[in-house]
Amino acid sequence: METIRSDRLLAKRNKLYEGKAKIIYDGPEPGTIVQYFKDDAVALNGTKKDIVAGKGVLNNRISSHIMTRLEGVGIPTHFLHSMNMREQLTRKLEMIPVEIVVRNIVAGSLSKRLGLEEGKYLPKPLVEFYYKDDALGNPLISEDHILTFGWADPYEMEEIVAMSLRVNDYLSGLFTGIGLKLVDFKLEFGRLWGEYDELYIILADEITPDTCRIWDAQTGEKLDKDRFLYDLGDLVEGYQEIAKRLGLIPEGGLMKEGEINEDVAAQLEDIENERARERKFKAVKTAKKPQKS
Ligand SMILES: Nc1ncnc2c1ncn2[C@@H]1O[C@H](COP(=O)(O)OP(=O)(O)OP(=O)(O)O)[C@@H](O)[C@H]1O
Ligand SMILES: [Mg+2]
Repeated sequence: METIRSDRLLAKRNKLYEGKAKIIYDGPEPGTIVQYFKDDAVALNGTKKDIVAGKGVLNNRISSHIMTRLEGVGIPTHFLHSMNMREQLTRKLEMIPVEIVVRNIVAGSLSKRLGLEEGKYLPKPLVEFYYKDDALGNPLISEDHILTFGWADPYEMEEIVAMSLRVNDYLSGLFTGIGLKLVDFKLEFGRLWGEYDELYIILADEITPDTCRIWDAQTGEKLDKDRFLYDLGDLVEGYQEIAKRLGLIPEGGLMKEGEINEDVAAQLEDIENERARERKFKAVKTAKKPQKS
């Protein structure tokens, strides 16, 4: 029997989608996909771009970790396990074309749109919806738009909002404990059908400093993607600081003289995979719409 070399297998892998931050491939099992985290930093609707060495590795690590922690408190996520420095295996979902943004502190577009001072705590977490369409610039929408156009039904929306607020509670606490403020973040959800065609709403995509605003609690320093947008300093340094405080990289750091420290990266992968082995891989059917009878 011919031995197939792994690089040939990789080359043969079926690319499903390439976005700004990730490439999505078919996974090894039906109903799974591989998320490859790129080093590309993109802002201002694609007009500001750069390659930031180390960003993909850090984001893969941070998202795996946060998704694992969320699973641990009963939030169903698409994350299955880490594959290597840049890739993770996730369940393939039918994505709901809506971005859910939860805000604790005024920043970004909320500050601009309503003329509010950045940095003010909101009286309660604010949940916003954006229609996922890059060509339209991901416009702000109301829940009624979602229901009217059938992007999700009322039961799904109830679950999505409840889950988003639980994610906010958990992550706010997690970040407070390590001297960070979770200002706001974006979530995406998808649908998965179980063995008996029962529907599950699952947290998907990524939770990283690309999709969250995270400030140092003491100094107010921005450690997230805004560093790139506003040229506030080295992007990877901010991401690395978050990863360090989450206990994901040792004091020395993942990056050394602008290069990834391969030894540290390999250690991290071992730790992550050990954790993944402890988790049960539940067999699921390929995401598909249930047959209406
Ligand atoms: N579990 C999943 N199953 C299927 N698709 C997913 C899953 N998780 C995330 N996705 C989708 O994969 C893509 C991830 O790529 P990326 O984050 O680079 O996209 P993007 O550039 O942000 O653009 P957009 O999100 O607008 O497509 C997104 O379209 C996201 O909705
Ligand atoms: Mg994205």
